[in-house]
Amino acid sequence: MRNLGMGKQMIEGKIFEELHFLIERIKSFKGEPFTLPSFNCAPINITFVMLFGDRFDYKDPTFLTLLRLIDEVMILLGSPYLNYFNFYPFLGFLFKTHKIMLKKIEDVRVILRQYMKASREDINENSVRSYIDALIFKQQEEKNKKDSLFHDDNLMASILDLVMAGTETIATTLQWSILLMMKYPEIQKKVQEEIGRTVKAGSWATYEDRKNMPYTNAVLHEVQRFITLLPHVPRCTAVDTHFRGYFLPKGIIVIPSLTSVLLDKTQWETPHKFNPNHFLDAEGNFVKKGAFLPFSTGRRNCIGESLAKMELFVFFVGLLQTFTFRPQPGVSESDLDLTVPQTTFTLRPQPQATCAVLRE
Ligand code: HEM
Repeated sequence: MRNLGMGKQMIEGKIFEELHFLIERIKSFKGEPFTLPSFNCAPINITFVMLFGDRFDYKDPTFLTLLRLIDEVMILLGSPYLNYFNFYPFLGFLFKTHKIMLKKIEDVRVILRQYMKASREDINENSVRSYIDALIFKQQEEKNKKDSLFHDDNLMASILDLVMAGTETIATTLQWSILLMMKYPEIQKKVQEEIGRTVKAGSWATYEDRKNMPYTNAVLHEVQRFITLLPHVPRCTAVDTHFRGYFLPKGIIVIPSLTSVLLDKTQWETPHKFNPNHFLDAEGNFVKKGAFLPFSTGRRNCIGESLAKMELFVFFVGLLQTFTFRPQPGVSESDLDLTVPQTTFTLRPQPQATCAVLRE
């Protein structure tokens, strides 16, 4: 991942390129209302650039199919029937959700296999341009090694992991950040004022600029804290484990609750209120908080953390530099719904629309 530019300038260049396409897309709505998922294409494309080596055109049929399948899988993953099945697999014959979901995942695999096949056909040390290429290259290097971990099933699982974990998460966070700016126009204005003071007209903010933009940085951290996007990612103990007086046998499912930290009233002044001051001191400097754990913690925390933070910053600042986001006509700020997210794997905002008004 590092060789592919994760968290570095190389990927930032791709994010700027994608920002340009995103801005053009938003401009095409000409100030008319459009739905929040319209922002998804750009962050999802960045993960695809890493996976496949190239961006997709937003109208590309493969791109649209992948977006649809990911969306459907995420909805099914949040279905209560799937949870019943997880807890009572022997009742599988009663539930259909897991079968429908596995079929959709298989449809994603069919597409991924085509990319793996293409990569396999002309891979060499100098042609590694993507995550898929890197895995295939390693597989070929180790083809005579007994017990190599780079076998087809593992490759597919790793690629699929990135497809699912690196798309919905960042795309939904971007949707929330725009929704929250519509809801709190005074915060949106303060971000735009800071952008005006810090970013030269005609250029985009780089990730490095966040150091001179404490307010914007605080707003984005607060977005991630407030939305508690991924309340719990189930894990399995790899070995017998003793933890705080409890014995967790090998193989048992453990579900850490990130919400308990992100909304902990001993850590945050107003845990249930959107409040960028959580990340600012009295002088307006940005303050890091130990309880800010949307990417979890420990050895298996989110692999995409640095990329996600960079994308979020560059896309968000670029969007607010170019547009002011308002609720659609007939909807007031107080009508905007922050409270009842859909049941999906991530906590998505309710389907809502926005109007992007071009700034001077
Ligand atoms: C706002 C965006 C994101 C959030 C909030 C987020 C959050 C998380 C969390 C909480 C986990 C579970 C960690 C654990 O169990 O300890 C995770 C895992 C993961 N994330 Fe992210 N993530 C985001 C974006 C991304 C992106 C952009 C990528 C890839 C480009 C990515 C790739 C992954 C992968 C592959 C895993 C699984 C790691 C493993 O299997 O150990 N994530 N993420």
